[in-house]
Amino acid sequence: MKINGKTRTCGLMGNPVEHTLSPVIHNHLAERENRNLVYVPFLVEQDRIREAVEGAYALHIHGLNVTVPHKSAVIPYLKEIDKLAENIGAVNTLVKTENGYKGYNTDMPGLLRAMETENYAMRGESVILLGAGGAARAVAMLCMEQGAKEIYLLNRSMEKAMAVAKEVNGIYKENKIIPMALSDHGKLPDKKYLAIQATSVGLYPHVEDVVISEEEFYDKIETAVDLIYNPYETKFMSMVKAHGGRAMNGLKMLLFQGIIAYELWNDVTVSEETAEEILKKMKEELNIHE
Ligand code: ATR
Repeated sequence: MKINGKTRTCGLMGNPVEHTLSPVIHNHLAERENRNLVYVPFLVEQDRIREAVEGAYALHIHGLNVTVPHKSAVIPYLKEIDKLAENIGAVNTLVKTENGYKGYNTDMPGLLRAMETENYAMRGESVILLGAGGAARAVAMLCMEQGAKEIYLLNRSMEKAMAVAKEVNGIYKENKIIPMALSDHGKLPDKKYLAIQATSVGLYPHVEDVVISEEEFYDKIETAVDLIYNPYETKFMSMVKAHGGRAMNGLKMLLFQGIIAYELWNDVTVSEETAEEILKKMKEELNIHE
């Protein structure tokens, strides 16, 4: 990598930032595309978000990613916010504009693009969405945007499931989100579903945990996405596969949220071939050998 006076700087704001894969994504993209761009992690403390955003702008930082725990806290300091990001209430990408940054959420478009590469459909599908935290709430918005037929939102805490359903149904003025308690999964109408696992259950090191352990549940799943990518195959995914369904993890979502951010910053489209190449680099970094 050659750094000179014309090098564009992009980076990630978060806390912590030590374990991020984003520099792998962006620096390899820049290298592959022969672009004079460097991407670095920036540790930002909770009470210094405003200074960080203003300072970055003053330094002409070309683009920023934002990760936990700042995805919502950064919003007041933006000049503009994209509609989807506003609905989700979380921003993970800042794009430099004339007098400040515009915020986007590329996590959900990233999930969609990842699903497309695996030929997964969302439009017209019956969806089972597991979880009602920040990630599940964003996925619920995506399902609405993409015209899913119906979304059964199952969560351990029924109150949270109801709150998310009410909010998302309200925004889209449709009653497609049906809240349920996780323990009521046996009451799901008998059909084939797209299931999206958006709880933290099964995340390393708790690799034997699974949000629903009853085998019958998995007979209803045709395709599944687990937003977790560590472990590379979760218990949830292996149960889906054991019952004849297809399952993918969250690594491609991470890849494409990065690719979409890179495309916004550089006004380009990244090819499928390059995306595959970057995915390979991410797997090397994670020590994944398939
Ligand atoms: P994120 O922002 O990643 O979505 P979160 O907001 O903390 O994280 O949400 C975590 C989700 O995982 C919630 O849906 C949570 O269920 P509750 O709302 O009932 O807490 C779910 N979750 C975490 N541990 C769980 C467990 N052991 N069993 C079932 N669900 C669990």
